[in-house]
Formats: sequence, structure tokens, C-alpha cells
Amino acid sequence: FPVSVVLPAGGTGERTGLRTPKQFCSLLGRPLISYTVQAFERVSWIQSVVVVVAEENMDLMTDVVQRFRHTKVRAVPGGSTRHRSIWNGVLALGEGEGEGAVVIVHDAVRPFVDEDLLYKIATAAKEHGAAGAIRPLVSTVIATTSEGYLDHSLERAKYRASEMPQGFTYDVISRAYQRCSESDFEFGTECLHLALQYCGTNAKLIQGPPTLWKVTYKRDLAAAESIIKDALS
Ligand code: C5P
Repeated sequence: FPVSVVLPAGGTGERTGLRTPKQFCSLLGRPLISYTVQAFERVSWIQSVVVVVAEENMDLMTDVVQRFRHTKVRAVPGGSTRHRSIWNGVLALGEGEGEGAVVIVHDAVRPFVDEDLLYKIATAAKEHGAAGAIRPLVSTVIATTSEGYLDHSLERAKYRASEMPQGFTYDVISRAYQRCSESDFEFGTECLHLALQYCGTNAKLIQGPPTLWKVTYKRDLAAAESIIKDALS
């Protein structure tokens, strides 16, 4: 079955405190997003990668595609929220990437995704309609009151962190986002939730490795660089 990737990279990266959004920061002379794209281009059974980029960064992305000769990639403009960006990416999928196909959603800022996990996610998505990577929680999750006091805390062992990649049949992701776009596009950031809410699809969850972590802060860029260095040596 055909497999395509939607790679939301439409954020403007406020948390790093850098002027360049983190997905375009250079690690050993190559922008972070180029490593992520390369991880998909290496997988022979992945057909294409739709990268969703903020309008203001479109030139940066075009430059990355040309300089690093990314052949499976096309870039489309993003939206004001993560959900809107992903929907734009899904709408840009072409002929043969639709009916019967699986769509993998990943983050531009998680460059160390491997083929083994992508295969597990794609096949589970085909079988169950939706699938996503999870990790154990490192911290306990608590809810606070608006005055800044503890409201309640969750039992850590019962919960998981939802990571990327996630996979969907084209039918599930397009129906979920179509319906979401007609009602409340602002609900959260969890695509698996949309599949449940709008299609009644319970995602299959698959434990991923620690290297799935999301490059979020400035120090993560240095950590990512050191992992790449180790892999090259
Ligand atoms: O903000 P957060 O770290 O959850 O963003 C995860 C991914 O979603 C990033 O790759 C970011 O570029 C993307 N995103 C997007 N469009 C937005 C906001 C975030 O594609 N409007």
C-alpha cells in the first residue's frame, strides 16, 4: 500500500529563543529539517514527503531542498495552528497518495526516527485506522488552578507521553480533519484524538525508543549535533 508523509514544520520556534526557527538551525552544516527529511528518503517504501512550512520560511525550505537534493519532497504553506498545518499537508497529497494509502505524520524537529518504527506505525495504521508512538512519562502530570495551586495529579504509571510518528489511513485522517475543520479547529494538538472524536477510531499505540525526543530548546540542538557526530564516527 502507498505510504506518504506529512511533516508539519510550520512553527516559528519561540522556545529556543533563536531568530532562526529550530527546524532550520544548522547542525554540522546541514539544517535540522534536512536530517528528518533524509530519514524518510532513505526508506524505499515511502513515496513522498509533504513538508508544511510557514509562508515566511518558504524560501529557506526551497533552498534546503535544492542544496541537499531532496527528491521526494514538496513544500506547502502552513496554517496558524498545528492542526491547520497538518490539514494543509493532507489536502496537498496527490493522486495515488489517497485511496487505500497510509499517511504518516511526523515532526520536522524529531530527526532520529528509524525505519523499524516507521514500518510498525504504517502497518498498525493500515490495520487499525490509526497508530501512534508513545513513551513512558518522565515527570508526573498535574493540573493547576488558575491561582497557581495544585488542583489534582495523575497517576503516572497509567499515562504515556504521545510522541511522533503517527500513522492514519487516508480515509481516517481526511475525514477527521474535514470534520474538525467544519467545527472546532482549535482543539488541542493531538491528531489521534481527532481520529477518535470524529471517526471513532481507537489508535493502536506502539512504544518508541528514547531517540524520538523532540528538539525543543537550544540545548537540544547541541545534543542532536552530538548524536549525529557519534553516528558519523
Ligand atoms: O509547537 P510544537 O513543538 O508542538 O510543534 C510541533 C510541530 O508542529 C513542529 O514541527 C512545528 O513546526 C509544527 N507546527 C506547524 N504549524 C503551526 C505550529 C506548529 O506545522 N502553526
